Amino acid sequence: MDSIIVTGGNALNGTIPIAGAKNACLTLMPATLLSEEPLTLTNAPRLSDIKTMQLLLESLGSEVTALNDGKVLALSSGTITNHVADYDIVRKMRASILVLGPMLAREGHAVVSLPGGCAIGARPVDLHLKALEALGAELELRDGYVHATARSGLKGGRITFPMVSVGATENALMAATLARGTTVIENAACEPEITDLAHCLQRMGAQIEGEGTPTITIQGVDRLSGATHPVVTDRIELGTYMLAPAITGGEVTLEGGRLELVSAFAEKLDEAGIAVETVENGLKVSRRNGPARAVDVRTAPFPGFPTDLQAQMMALLCTADGVSVLEETIFENRFMHAPELIRMGAQIDVQGGVARVTGVERLRGAQVMATDLRASVSLILAGLAAEGETQVNRVYHLDRGYERVEEKLAACGAAIRRVAGE
Ligand code: EPZ
Repeated sequence: MDSIIVTGGNALNGTIPIAGAKNACLTLMPATLLSEEPLTLTNAPRLSDIKTMQLLLESLGSEVTALNDGKVLALSSGTITNHVADYDIVRKMRASILVLGPMLAREGHAVVSLPGGCAIGARPVDLHLKALEALGAELELRDGYVHATARSGLKGGRITFPMVSVGATENALMAATLARGTTVIENAACEPEITDLAHCLQRMGAQIEGEGTPTITIQGVDRLSGATHPVVTDRIELGTYMLAPAITGGEVTLEGGRLELVSAFAEKLDEAGIAVETVENGLKVSRRNGPARAVDVRTAPFPGFPTDLQAQMMALLCTADGVSVLEETIFENRFMHAPELIRMGAQIDVQGGVARVTGVERLRGAQVMATDLRASVSLILAGLAAEGETQVNRVYHLDRGYERVEEKLAACGAAIRRVAGE
């Protein structure tokens, strides 16, 4: 397993290109199952999770070709030859559940392994299943798989989510595009990835209104055509790299960054004394003077502060001037980066879903272990500011969500390198 070694202390200056959004691409790719015609995705990120989704779709009979060094994905699902999404692939990536809605809508039946939990939480899929039942699906859970059927096809219905769920909204939205009649989704997720999926489906001929708001209305159509769609910019990669100059000092331009994708996050950076400026080719971030100021953070569904940036923000607050309180409201176990940061000299007290961080002068480099995707990049960020050398192990977590992180940071002056593991 590869490791990444960072020697802290360098201020960062330069430009970092921001890729297409992993979490948009992972829901756009299954949309190919909704149509017999080709779907082309541009601005696709080059990540291991994308390859996993490619393998899953190919196992169902889709053809997926990566062009232009993986930045373009040409997908076509003329015929679905296998209706079972196997546990072996699904267990590697929970987003695999997103083939359920489209496959059921197109074929009238689907068998998908339940994804199981992951490091940050149990992550059930009950809301996905209830949404499909509201569209007339009959579901049976057997041997760790969900067997879904809709012999006479799905029919429009009202789906009211008791809590916001990004994935369940995506499954429901895709399924509803081919359901007979009108579907209304209430308490829908408003994340930019939902809006991006809706725009792609509209390009394919779907009738959708209200995307990006809590109420989405879909008029089912008989069939969808192919389309070409650009994957939206990755707001989590954007926020992650905005924190690099915030932690080290210096000035970095995030190419392709758009403020409206990260407004709640940018407000918190402003409160912490970090300058965020819209420039011609993206966002420019610099630390005004001296260390960041302590700020309180509470994660929430979009447009609130993203849970996927909580770990990275904690790395900044470990070196901020003062005491910060971070409250994680989305997942039940998303502070696993805290013990690793503490090994670097951070002062963090975790009580349930609340972490109290007392800023220290400087962190100290250490051997640390990545536990999940966003925790691993927060350790890289901490290493950029720490004294001495930090070695982050198990960076396969990192490669799931970040394209060539060491290259992007080294291009701005970071002393960072990847060491191939055994
Ligand atoms: C998506 O996961 C993202 N993944 C996550 O990003 C992100 O953290 C999350 O949304 C929240 O923004 C992808 O888009 C591939 P949810 P998802 O359904 O859809 C509970 C990353 O680092 N819940 O919005 O799985 C769930 O347990 C990843 O890129 C149910 O109880 O998240 C959680 O507590 C991590 N039942 C909360 O809802 C359900 O049926 C929000 O989950 C579904 C979810």
